[in-house]
Amino acid sequence: MLPTYATVNLAALAHNLSCIKRYLSPGCDVLAIVKANAYGHGAVETAQALARMGIRQFAVASLDEGIALRQAGLSTSIVVLGALFDEQVSDLVAHQLTPVVSDGHILPALAKAAHSHQIPYPVHLKVETGMGRLGFSPEELCLLLDDPLLRSPLHLEGLMTHLADADGKDGTFTERQLDAFGNVLKQIRQRGLTPPLIHAANSAAIVRFPKAHFSLVRPGIMLYGYHTLPDTVPAPDLRPVLSLRTTVAQLRTIPQGGTVSYNGTFVATRPTRIAVLPIGYADGYSRRLSHRGSVLIQGSRAPIVGLVCMDMIMV
Ligand SMILES: Cc1ncc(COP(=O)(O)O)c(C=O)c1O
Repeated sequence: MLPTYATVNLAALAHNLSCIKRYLSPGCDVLAIVKANAYGHGAVETAQALARMGIRQFAVASLDEGIALRQAGLSTSIVVLGALFDEQVSDLVAHQLTPVVSDGHILPALAKAAHSHQIPYPVHLKVETGMGRLGFSPEELCLLLDDPLLRSPLHLEGLMTHLADADGKDGTFTERQLDAFGNVLKQIRQRGLTPPLIHAANSAAIVRFPKAHFSLVRPGIMLYGYHTLPDTVPAPDLRPVLSLRTTVAQLRTIPQGGTVSYNGTFVATRPTRIAVLPIGYADGYSRRLSHRGSVLIQGSRAPIVGLVCMDMIMV
């Protein structure tokens, strides 16, 4: 066994999921965000565990992430949130991944690839309401609604936006985004389109903006046990899913005036017991934690001393 390893606590994941669900009204579902390797927790294992907990919809950032989940046997809906390129469309459809369309140029290619499907192929449209990232402007999106491809062979399954400031101190920007989103939704329904999946809320919005819940919410960070909410909001009851563990490799006592690590930035003011741990920035333990981070050794907190090395730290 390696001396340094990460553990993933599925009981904590289940706990966080039920914490998220307590904010939701009946009928509002969870689209679990498992992009970026499920925030580093292992996308396949995390998605499989969440599927066992009843989650039926997942979202990833990119085509390759979606294909990896399909190839691991996940048969639920998998939404690809990120940009979609023409040359990716046939693979996307072959793996039955649901695209988020942010630019109309991709629709003909999607429709062509979807023709062989027995049932209309689901797509979600993204409206840009203030994130300044991917998406149609409300005006562009309303123009697109007359495109017959959205009725066949495609099927407008979802409408989404992304909130830029749900964890900001002031809710004004989010309220403005939600108003813009609500207006687009109204126009969509006036055109006789009734996408069943309407989604806008990331973790912070789940807690702070019930009106952003619509039919689906998109939690990421809260699933994994953290939140980005301001101090003014009561903190949700979350448990960290991931723990990073290692083993003391060597214990030494350095004299007063002795230094630790590169550049000698830690100087002992008295004889000091130092433990060397075999973990460093190559393992993802950021160099920015030099002199600032700490570890727990049998429950007692020990501060990092000196600079974090590539594969060792000293405490
Ligand atoms: C489109 C979209 N929705 C939801 C999320 C989840 O956000 P959070 O981790 O804040 O819940 C992300 C994360 O990056 C995202 O890109």
